[in-house]
Amino acid sequence: HRDLIAIGALQSHEILFLLDEAEHWVRFNRQPTKHCDALAGLTIINAFFENSTRTLLSFEIAGKRLGADVVNMHAAQSSVKKGETLIDTAKTLNAMRADAMVIRHGSSGAVGLIAGKVDCPVLNAGDGQHEHPTQGLLDALALRHALAERGEASSDGQLTGLTVTICGDILHSRVARSNILCLQALGATVRLCAPPALMPAGVAAMGVEVFHNFDAALAGADVVMMLRLQNERMDGQFIPSPREYRHLYGLTRQRLALARDNVIVMHPGPMNRGVEIDSDVADDARYSIITNQVEMGVAIRMACLDVLTRKARGIPGWGEGEWV
Ligand code: CP
Repeated sequence: HRDLIAIGALQSHEILFLLDEAEHWVRFNRQPTKHCDALAGLTIINAFFENSTRTLLSFEIAGKRLGADVVNMHAAQSSVKKGETLIDTAKTLNAMRADAMVIRHGSSGAVGLIAGKVDCPVLNAGDGQHEHPTQGLLDALALRHALAERGEASSDGQLTGLTVTICGDILHSRVARSNILCLQALGATVRLCAPPALMPAGVAAMGVEVFHNFDAALAGADVVMMLRLQNERMDGQFIPSPREYRHLYGLTRQRLALARDNVIVMHPGPMNRGVEIDSDVADDARYSIITNQVEMGVAIRMACLDVLTRKARGIPGWGEGEWV
């Protein structure tokens, strides 16, 4: 079987394949009745060792709409609290004959470690500061839809020629890494902007443009993706106060005017309103596609669960060579 641990492990054509598969589920989810039997009889375990609203709920909804039996394990209410190790926990879930596991963990690499110990496909729902691959995919899908609405979608489904500015706590952001890799694989140019303490050393080697001045990073940008300050992951980094941060790096209506007309505003959530993004920007339907990102999240997760379980269902699928 194949896992989905990182965008960095996917080829461009594999990313496009998953995005195209998700388009079917976007249409399906917009129908009044949203249930099918594609994954009937399969058991999906969502094991979350970190808090989540969007990712956990959308994976649960995705599995249920596909007809699977879905169970959630919250680490805070599990035997992890009694000292059970990560590997023992994974082996325990595996012994219950799960057909797919969706895992979020606070440590980079933990989900990949589990994938090597279990017999079913593992989907990374965010591991530490490493990757959040379904977020990268859902953001690309939301972008494609926003471009289509503006009459700017490319016929090949790629994002060639688009300049995307990602601003915020890049250092701690798995969302940033997955988005950089996904956007670049689809042909976009990526600018990163952060206070010096929140910009990873050596990130320019990823082929991104690095900024510390937000106004400069915004100039002419087609898309602005704002990230939250991950206060729970700070380890002594010097960061400005929330007021100073908004002054230097907050997306205000005034600042937004520096980007191109008809700019697209994104945020993976959860937002710190009035810090990295003002409410009048986040809630302005002319620019903001933040709620559409959430909608696309369900479709992307349906596509990933469907494709990754095809082999177990006897259907040629992901990595089987039929769509290369
Ligand atoms: N964007 C995202 O991963 O949100 P949650 O932490 O609520 O899942």
